[in-house]
Amino acid sequence: MPKINIPQRQLTIEVKAGSNLMNSLLEAGLPVASSCHGDGVCSMCRVKVTGEVVAPANYEAEALKRNKCEPDERLSCQIEVHSDVSVATKYW
Ligand code: FES
Repeated sequence: MPKINIPQRQLTIEVKAGSNLMNSLLEAGLPVASSCHGDGVCSMCRVKVTGEVVAPANYEAEALKRNKCEPDERLSCQIEVHSDVSVATKYW
């Protein structure tokens, strides 16, 4: 099972392969900002992700650009976790 490492919280969680990153973080009790509830439009759920993740789809890339996200930020609601990753945000 893949692991999500959250260094800011000194926490590592194991998730089922293919789990949604935002939902996994929420289920672990971590706050994740959102106003679109995972529809991929608000960009509030952005996190810095290190590790292997699929490249953003066009609509995610457009949302990241439109909302002036950093190059290493991704929308956590749009990521499926298939291998170990590290995640950080500005507000944890
Ligand atoms: S929750 Fe809105 S873009 Fe992810």
